[in-house]
Order: sequence, then C-alpha cells, then structure tokens
Amino acid sequence: MASTHIMLGVTGSIAAFKACQLVSDWGKRGYETRVAMTAAAQRFVTPLSFASLAHTPVRTAMFPDTADSQDALDAQRLGISHIDDAKWADVLVIAPATADIIAKIAHGIADDYLTSMVLAYEGPKILCPAMNTRMYNNPVTQRNIAACREFGWTIVEPATGRLACQDTGKGKLADLEDIEDAVEQAAESAAASRCGTKTETDQPANDELAGLHVLVTAGPTQEPLDPVRYLTNHSTGKMGYALAQEAQAMGAEVTLVSGPVALDEPDGVHTVHVQTAQEMFDAVHGHFAQADIAIMAAAVGDFRPEHRSEQKIKKAGGVMPPITLVQNPDILAWAGEHKRPDGSQLVCGFAMETQDLLANAQSKLERKHCDMLVANDLNEPGAGFAHDTNRVVILTPDTDKNATAGEDGSTIHAEPQPLMDKRDLAAVILGRLARMRQERLAD
Ligand code: C5P
Repeated sequence: MASTHIMLGVTGSIAAFKACQLVSDWGKRGYETRVAMTAAAQRFVTPLSFASLAHTPVRTAMFPDTADSQDALDAQRLGISHIDDAKWADVLVIAPATADIIAKIAHGIADDYLTSMVLAYEGPKILCPAMNTRMYNNPVTQRNIAACREFGWTIVEPATGRLACQDTGKGKLADLEDIEDAVEQAAESAAASRCGTKTETDQPANDELAGLHVLVTAGPTQEPLDPVRYLTNHSTGKMGYALAQEAQAMGAEVTLVSGPVALDEPDGVHTVHVQTAQEMFDAVHGHFAQADIAIMAAAVGDFRPEHRSEQKIKKAGGVMPPITLVQNPDILAWAGEHKRPDGSQLVCGFAMETQDLLANAQSKLERKHCDMLVANDLNEPGAGFAHDTNRVVILTPDTDKNATAGEDGSTIHAEPQPLMDKRDLAAVILGRLARMRQERLAD
C-alpha cells in the first residue's frame, strides 16, 4: 500500500522546534513528510533539522534569488514546485501556525512558498495555532480562525498554560499527541476518499463490506393531514443515498428504505419507497433481522396528525381547525433495542442539532443504544440538508483517552471530521463500521 504523504508547514513560533518531533514520529509510523518553512520559522529552527528528519530538502523560498539556504537551493535544483507538493500531499498540517499565517490563509494571500502551496492544496487540512494568548484572543485572530474553519480547516485548539513570553493563557501549541491523532484521522479520511473514487481509477475495489447486508434509511417522511397536505422537513436524502451507493460499491448487499425524495434509485441497491414514519418503521422492521449494519440517516418526522381527514380540510369561516399530533415510532431506538445480542449487528444513527451538538448527540447515542452516532450542526456552513458536503462529528462508545463522560458515566469518543463530500463521508462512516464489526467479532 502507498505510504501516507504529509505536507507540514512550519511558521515562526517558538514552538517550531516541537514540529521536528512530529516529523520524526510520522517517519516511525511509515508516513512520508515534506516540510515547508516560512522565513520567520527559519529563525527558530534551521531547515537542516527538518531535512535530516524528513530525508528531503525543505521548501523555504519560491524563487532562487530569495533562497538563502542550501536546502532551498537544493529544492529548486530538483525542480520542486508548490503545485507538485499540493498534489502530492494526502494531509496538510500547519504546526505551529502563527496569527500571521492564519490571517493569510483566511484571506487567500499567497506571498511565499508555504502560502502558495496552501492555496493550491485541495485535501484535508489541519491548523495548529500557537501564539501569545493576547494575540490568540484578539477578535481579529478569532475571526480568521473561524474563517479557516469555514474553508474546511480542522483546528487543533491550542493548550492553556504558561507561554514562552511569561504570560499565562491559551496559546501553547496543542499536545503533539492531539496533533498526531488529528493527522491520523485525516489520513484515514483521505484513504477512504481515495477508495471512494476507486471505480474511476485502476485501483483494486474496496470490498470491506463484501458478504454483509447493509440497511439504510434516507430522506424525509411525510405525515398526511388530508389528501393534499402533509407535515414534512427539508431532508433531500443525499446523505442516505450516498451511504447506500458507497456500501454497494464496498461490496455490501444494500436495502435502502427511502422517504419521498427527488433522487434516482442507486444502481444495484434494493430500494423500498415509503411515505410516512410508520411505513418506514414497517419496512425497517421487515429487513432488520438480515442486516449486519443498519444506518438510520432518514429525517423521520417525530409526530403525525392524530387524524387524517378523508376530505380536504376546508376553511371554516376563518376558524383554524385544531390539529392534534401524536408521536411516531422511533425507528432508530427500536433498532438499537433489537440488535443481535452477539454484537454482530451494528446500528448507526444521525443527529442534526442547532445547539449543544455534542451533549445532545452523546445522550442520543446512549439512549438509542447506537454503536455510532454521526452528528452535524445545522448552523455549520456546508453541512446538513440539501448540501453535497457535510461536516460531522463521529461519536462512538469508547474508553480511550479522548473519551468524555456521557450521561451514565460511560465514555464516548468524539472525532470531528473535516468538511467532506457526502460520498467521501459515507466511505469514512462505512469503513469505520466495517472495522468496528470486525474488531467486535474478533474479541
Ligand atoms: O432524536 P432524533 O430524531 O434527533 O434522532 C435522529 C436519529 O434518529 C436519526 O438517525 C433518525 O433517522 C432516527 N430517527 C428514527 N425514527 C424517528 C426519529 C428519528 O429512526 N422517529
């Protein structure tokens, strides 16, 4: 398998020396790293240190006349270009990232090698701010960080502590372990994305789900009031359809239970069309026992009108007819409660929230007995209904160090994902579920 390519940008912070350790650690993991340094970074650490660890010349300048180090001259002699590096990298990391580079990225400035390469790069990207706490807290820096997030950067938040300048506060480069975890996740996503486009290349097919049955719900439900009116929501079904298509591409036999959407039925997928939540429940109920993985991506209506009028409800002299709502079955909760006891059946839910994303998602994961919960914030740019992209946090029950305590004291692992195409995200979710199932069965 090809090794993972990391492009590391180092900028002018006292924490630049810590980035040497990152390159060393990635080398031990079998990753290949290339390093680009800003002029200020070279004041803190010499390019030779990074070149020695990465076993390749460090990119330090765009033009021969501005190259003031042997490394830069070597790099130019080898014809290395910022575009080549941008195409080569699977993951781009800037650690440490100063207020200056963050401002430049937020505004698309490309005035040296690193910033030009950044602008030409299209994959997952991680920013690790490190600076004086006052500079970090300055609203303009915060606005620039928010802009970077919006442009798809994952931010590994700086730590709080005593800074080199003797101030105390937030601004220390994050723990290297946290940066390495974020890079590993991004590398996994990048690998999954490459798998997602395999059919367009000559790469062998990803058959991680071969022999498994995957059940997916998608789209909205419609709850009729009368023959012409219904209650529904804005779901387009894109995420669920992407999951069904991707699962089929990964070798699974797929049943898609779909509410009313304007999408074509995916090729090779058994699609069951339903209208109401009760019909969706009935279809899931009928297919659940055969499913090895069930993913509930539908935006199911929580309520339905108690009575469905046989005739169109008329305006009665301006008096509004009362509508009593009753609760629909919770399909995900039902599936969570009826999993095979041997752990061979995984249930994954989705949660779309407008506030307290993680707290709500954690409680949903536990309440509905999910093995995975994919949470997205409706307020995030590029996420949620109708978009072709999504930005989510993947929650799983876990006991490792990143876990946070849930409602009953159990631990939950939360992994924020970069902004991704829904099909790429589907590959990440399904890859995780396939591996989780394998590990469960191996235990
Ligand atoms: O509780 P909430 O509706 O936010 O939960 C969202 C998750 O639960 C989604 O995975 C959705 O498909 C599922 N759900 C369901 N049946 C319902 C309501 C939600 O399967 N009646």
